[in-house]
Amino acid sequence: MKIRKTLESVTPYVAGKTKAGAVKLSSNENPLGPSPRALAAISREMNHLHRYPDGRSSLLIQALAEHFSLSSDCFIAGNGSDEIFALIAGTYLEEGQEVVTADSTFSEYNFSGLLFGGHVKKVPLVKGRFDPDGLLNAITEKTSLVFIANPNNPTGTFLSCSEIKSFMDRLPDSVILVLDEAYAEFAGHRDFCSGRDMVMDYPNLLVTRTFSKIYGLAGLRLGYAMGHPDLVQEIFRSKQAFNVNLLAQKAGAEALKDDEFIRKTLKLCSDGKEYLYKALEENGFFFYPSEANFICIKVDRDSKEVFDSFLDQGMAIRPLASFGMNEWIRYTIGTEEQNREFIRLLKTLKE
Ligand SMILES: Cc1ncc(COP(=O)(O)O)c(C=O)c1O
Repeated sequence: MKIRKTLESVTPYVAGKTKAGAVKLSSNENPLGPSPRALAAISREMNHLHRYPDGRSSLLIQALAEHFSLSSDCFIAGNGSDEIFALIAGTYLEEGQEVVTADSTFSEYNFSGLLFGGHVKKVPLVKGRFDPDGLLNAITEKTSLVFIANPNNPTGTFLSCSEIKSFMDRLPDSVILVLDEAYAEFAGHRDFCSGRDMVMDYPNLLVTRTFSKIYGLAGLRLGYAMGHPDLVQEIFRSKQAFNVNLLAQKAGAEALKDDEFIRKTLKLCSDGKEYLYKALEENGFFFYPSEANFICIKVDRDSKEVFDSFLDQGMAIRPLASFGMNEWIRYTIGTEEQNREFIRLLKTLKE
């Protein structure tokens, strides 16, 4: 059997390795677990599982519209933002067209591009940040999509409000920017702003978000895109009839209102960062200040070896070799106890 030519360069996704009993701090999940309001909604909804879900996720989309003060036709929901990226590529990317993104960033942009026969151009990060000028220089008349993670995974760096605006002003109208804000809720820097404030001004901007991180619902699979209705409504053409399951729709709408849980999550993350930054500096580790719920740290040795050694001692972190950053690791900020244990393990590298 012959697979499609474009898939010859695609290898199936390999999730971060872990082992039974190890603490998993490798996938930027919420160390506090799922949003309690989401869990209560799931329990209430169980008896309706014999019914198909609403194919347009209307109630969830209404809740998102209220949350962001945009009209409901600005939103589309998906089975994780991973599905949203594929839906966007499936809607706009013609075979042979180009996708532009960075070299060290989230791998699903590459996957979505290749899946639909696109050619993916990867522009190097500069000091761990997306390089707006480099991305613009890489754009040709064949370019259809640009993906920027803001903040970026795995570096945790961000592009400022004015950088994104200036990028949009220079981006050809025929090219769509997909601004992936999977970690935006964690970003506290005063120069950070969400693309939400720009979607009505730029009809070639799509902003994506997820319930996997701050809301602690990675296992449920729920993400969404927001953008100008002219753009978003086109994406519905690529969507399968019932792409978001019933439990995810109900849980997502409730999670949006879980202010107490969000407050606790943000506090844990900022306290953790304060402790970790200090400990990393004291122990001479270079890292990128992060606007997300993880930290990217230079370990000056093969990250795979560090990964194996930490896993043997009961902690899974993410080695960044597959991101082209072989001497770096990414650590998801955990509980106070987990952060202390991580620093203890890191210190052993200097012994
Ligand atoms: C930058 C970025 N975007 C999107 C995702 C995936 O989100 P989802 O779980 O909604 O598919 C991740 C997950 O790690 C991520 O790091």
